[in-house]
Amino acid sequence: MKPAISKISQIHPDQSVICILGKNEIPEWLKLSKSEKEFALKQLTAGEEYAVINSYYKNTYIIRINENGSGYKQKEELRKTAFNLRKIIRSNNHTELVIASHNAFNGAVEAFTEGLVLSFYKFGKYKTKKEKEEKYNYPSVLLLFQGPDDEDLKWLTDLTDSVYFVRDLINEPVNHLNAPALADEIKKIGTSAGFSVEVLNKGKIETLKMGGLLAVNKGSVDPPVFCILEWKPEKPLNASPLVLVGKGIVYDTGGLNIKTGDYMDNMKADMAGAAAVTGVMATIARTGIPLHVIGLIPATDNRPGGNAYTQGDIITMHNGMNVEVGNTDAEGRLILADAISYASRFKPELIIDIATLTGSAAMTFGVQAIAVMGNADRKYFRLLEECGNEVYERTAELPFWEEYGELIKSDIADIRNVGGREAGAITAGKFLENFAEYPMIHMDIAGTGSLKKDDFYRLKDGPGSGVRLLSTFIKKYAEGLMAK
Ligand code: BES
Ligand code: ZN
Ligand code: ZN
Repeated sequence: MKPAISKISQIHPDQSVICILGKNEIPEWLKLSKSEKEFALKQLTAGEEYAVINSYYKNTYIIRINENGSGYKQKEELRKTAFNLRKIIRSNNHTELVIASHNAFNGAVEAFTEGLVLSFYKFGKYKTKKEKEEKYNYPSVLLLFQGPDDEDLKWLTDLTDSVYFVRDLINEPVNHLNAPALADEIKKIGTSAGFSVEVLNKGKIETLKMGGLLAVNKGSVDPPVFCILEWKPEKPLNASPLVLVGKGIVYDTGGLNIKTGDYMDNMKADMAGAAAVTGVMATIARTGIPLHVIGLIPATDNRPGGNAYTQGDIITMHNGMNVEVGNTDAEGRLILADAISYASRFKPELIIDIATLTGSAAMTFGVQAIAVMGNADRKYFRLLEECGNEVYERTAELPFWEEYGELIKSDIADIRNVGGREAGAITAGKFLENFAEYPMIHMDIAGTGSLKKDDFYRLKDGPGSGVRLLSTFIKKYAEGLMAK
């Protein structure tokens, strides 16, 4: 269970407290003895990340901010410290825990709380016996003292709720979450968060001639789905919507070009883009962001079944273009392409797709950055980069020169779904650009969308990459329009 987050205006002397210190000065309200204070300050000045003081009825955790580095780096330090403290906190069995600051920068309490909440996540659904560490209670309530205002607190709650939801979706294996089941989950959260969801079934997908999605689905025994999520507030600030597209491959075996060795590891997470889009829609609907936003999620598994699509097939896409299949493992771009051309009917201001698309992006940036590229106005890339630093889901841009488009030319069809081994992340983006009639940004989260080990509070398996980034991007974009 995710801890609840609320605010308090007073601290009771026997409450356990985490206090973030801006200066080497311990506040009176922590009610520590002289020797306890001396002990804590000695530890912190010796360079320790934190000091813990255990009295018999409470624990006090004191955290020192590293003064070097700019605002966003300091916030990230606090999120990481929260992760480092998670085990001690858990073992102390708090039912509630106060998080406070003294002389710290604005946003310190939020950043620490965010890191802690995200570190407490567990995918425990399939454990029939409680694990040893689970017998300890997580604090069920975090009480923030001198922290955010009500609006910021709601944002933190909405955002972390979404990350938990997205992690649950990604971590669910395909035998429990096929494409129709994914659509059901999207409908459920749509109802609870307040955005609308329409699910197109296979018949409708055939009528729409979404040849990419249908081809990838041919080897599957489950039907594909195409989900349309919409958040339309009463008076949106944008005349044309923002369209988010998420790759919903609920499992990627590679198809007939089957993945070998350990390349199939965690391929249940190949719908991390779809999960992220759903999470972002939930955040902005719950928060009530005054922008019209549409989410498109094409979903299927990619398998080598009896009638599976093959290398060499030529498929006609939703926009009428013919694609030569050079590799059935380059399936993501086929389903995304249909969604991106479907987006034209909304005349969007901007299309952003998010996808675990290429091993190449993962090899280039590792787990540290989301690869971004596209033909949209620079102002969107700038804002994305700024938000990426702020939430520390950083973006790194790849070139998008037209010459890269040459690599996916086909002799016999309009285009091929693969280039050579070179520039694989870019040629995938270039492929998508062929289907975008409106400005687009492509985000490849192959490196960040599923992790082999915890990267601090970005927990392994499905960390929820892109949710905090895109939610913040949309919020800040709306704030920019409001300021005009
Ligand atoms: N889902 C994979 C990409 C991927 C790889 C995501 C590793 C996360 C971790 C995608 O569908 C894929 O298989 N891409 C191929 C494309 C190639 C055949 C051109 C790849 O990157 O190897
Ligand atoms: Zn693939
Ligand atoms: Zn894939």
